[in-house]
Amino acid sequence: MSASVTTGTAVLGAVFALAAAFVARRAFLIATTLKAMSWMPILSRRLSRWVKARHCDENELVSADGAPAFWIERRREGLDHLAATLRSQHAQSIAWGTAIRGSFADLRFTDASRVPFPFAQVTRAKFNLCSVVTASNGPYLRTLDGHWTLDVSGSYGFNVAGFDRYKAWMERGLKRVEELGPVLGPLHPIVAENIDLLKRVSQQDDVSFHMSGTEAVMAAVRTARFNTRRRLIVCFSGAYHGWWDGVQPGLGSERMLDDCLTLNDMSPASLAVIRRRAREIAGVLVNPVQSFHPNSPPPNDAVLVTSAVRKAQTSSDGYAGWLQQLREVCTASDVPLIFDEVYSGFRLGPGGAQKYFAVHADMVVYGKTVAGGFPIGVVCGKSALMRRLDPEHPMRMAYVVGTFSAHPAVMAAMNEFLRWALDPSTATLYRGANRTCTEWVKSTNECLADASLPIRVANLATIWTVVFTEPSRYNWLLQYYLRAERITLSWVGTGRCLASLDFSDDDYKTMRERLIAAARKMKNDGWWLTAAQFPERDTRMRMALLKDAAAALVPRPVQTFYAAVMKRKDDDHHASHNNPVNQYLHLVSSSVFLFCYATVWMDLTRAMVLGLAALFVRQFGHAVLEPACHDEEKLLLGYTTRDKTLIVLGYLLIPLAVMMQAHEWGLAVFFASIDRVAVQWFRWTAFVVLLRVAYLTWKHNVHIAMIWFVKLVTDPVTDIVAYFPRRPARA
Ligand SMILES: Cc1ncc(COP(=O)(O)O)c(C=O)c1O
Repeated sequence: MSASVTTGTAVLGAVFALAAAFVARRAFLIATTLKAMSWMPILSRRLSRWVKARHCDENELVSADGAPAFWIERRREGLDHLAATLRSQHAQSIAWGTAIRGSFADLRFTDASRVPFPFAQVTRAKFNLCSVVTASNGPYLRTLDGHWTLDVSGSYGFNVAGFDRYKAWMERGLKRVEELGPVLGPLHPIVAENIDLLKRVSQQDDVSFHMSGTEAVMAAVRTARFNTRRRLIVCFSGAYHGWWDGVQPGLGSERMLDDCLTLNDMSPASLAVIRRRAREIAGVLVNPVQSFHPNSPPPNDAVLVTSAVRKAQTSSDGYAGWLQQLREVCTASDVPLIFDEVYSGFRLGPGGAQKYFAVHADMVVYGKTVAGGFPIGVVCGKSALMRRLDPEHPMRMAYVVGTFSAHPAVMAAMNEFLRWALDPSTATLYRGANRTCTEWVKSTNECLADASLPIRVANLATIWTVVFTEPSRYNWLLQYYLRAERITLSWVGTGRCLASLDFSDDDYKTMRERLIAAARKMKNDGWWLTAAQFPERDTRMRMALLKDAAAALVPRPVQTFYAAVMKRKDDDHHASHNNPVNQYLHLVSSSVFLFCYATVWMDLTRAMVLGLAALFVRQFGHAVLEPACHDEEKLLLGYTTRDKTLIVLGYLLIPLAVMMQAHEWGLAVFFASIDRVAVQWFRWTAFVVLLRVAYLTWKHNVHIAMIWFVKLVTDPVTDIVAYFPRRPARA
């Protein structure tokens, strides 16, 4: 072999080995990523395209878990009473909401997210609430109707310090910049002081101002990408980072993302992905509030389809450990760790989640409360990550700006807030409030247990949530009972409630009393049945849920068709199936029909003989036991006694015709030719059915004909379900 051939082979071998190593590495990376990835965003987006709108009526609402009739009646009364109470309490707010809803998209969006969607329409018709307020006093809000309600909404998490403090800061702030007014571009000297204060709070080198939390997250991600020259942002399952679609891989946005990877929170596999794909990752974005409910989205009431949906961690120790591991991996891999503290900053304490979990991030995003009552977004970070210009390439830049950035009034109120936040006495205030809220949770849970109520509360600092301890389909209703007890919740309902630092012992007491009163009423109205009150609770609920899930996935025309068939069956049942003996005969004949359906392919003769016998038993029930029904049946199905007689005559004539053909008569001949007779019976059945389908199509339309056909074929199944003997339901 010549030297050049040997060299060529060696080069080819090396190229092949390199390609193989490259492919193997890619495959390994993909496998590692797939293992750590959260599938929830992808699956929920897919599902959102398939799930169809479905609206229960009031009857379906009160019986959505298949509870016995006694409780359904009780619920109906409870619902009416609750609606009447809320309507009288909120008459003006309801009228105000009704007048503007049609032209106010924001309200329509928040309204839609309060209740699981099948119940939304009926709930709207029943309550039609709208929160309209005109004054605040401590943690109380005055509604348009003039009532004072206890506010646990915390204004989306913004109200940490108590409204009265913000009022003072805003007023003082406006006063301080009064002379300048809303001048934008040139900066007010207060900005320098704020930068200094923010650097102290965040322990970072550099600061930028934005108009909202969402914008600040956008800015942080953009500059992290710019400075690392990498594309991929890692975030964690269930975490909310504002409404920018760049960090919304799941529900909420339809844009496909290939630069945002959602990994599982608190998972070693996720750490492995960050380590292995470090060269692609511009930043790991963490929302530390997730320590309360890792891997779950913000726990709103609209998703409360079962009690298992909402969970809350009672300790954040595990999460602190996770953040420390994340910090170590990010440091070792040179990947920026970004804390989105829009919610947690100044909520967990003046030092935010960085201090609370003892983890230092490379960038921190703040918002909500930090401007002392005005809209804001802030990014603090290491200088190397905050640059928007490339010193080596003057044309390269991260174009991040905003008209209202560093607005004088916002800066002045921020200054008031930050000086308060950094005062040593404020840390004591926070510690006291966090402790009081934890004690409140403990004592409230004892009261809830003593009262045998199926809810508990859990907290992270002054954030608290309601968790449900027994299976129920109605947990989302608690928000309405709470509102009737004069508690104001945000649009996510009982999932995220807040106490501000101005909550006094009396306010906590009131909050407990109202929570317990609301839960008691809800229980008395029959929405939370115990296993003893409703022995088949779990199975019935599971079945109802499965049915609902299937209904939501089935296309609308199929749903309408199904409803029409079931309506016919129901009408038929009321018209001509009232006699208990007739019902029993239907049970027997339907069982035989089902056996015939299953075996007709194997033995046509047996199926036809048994099927005809069952048909006669069935018709005997109608003809003899329920003679009064004929008129109604004719009305419903267009069937007359004459039609039926003709059909029966057809079945009788067939054996006679077969015998006539054979020129022999008698039972022995009949049995000898039974196979032939069965085939003719089968044909006659098919003919009669097809004729009827054709007739109904001609007289009405195909839709009606198909409804009749499907009803006929499926009657044996529904008859068995309807007439199977059951124990009477217990009250
Ligand atoms: C963690 C987090 N990030 C970002 C945002 C978005 O902030 P904003 O509503 O001010 O745009 C929020 C809002 O709730 C948030 O909780």
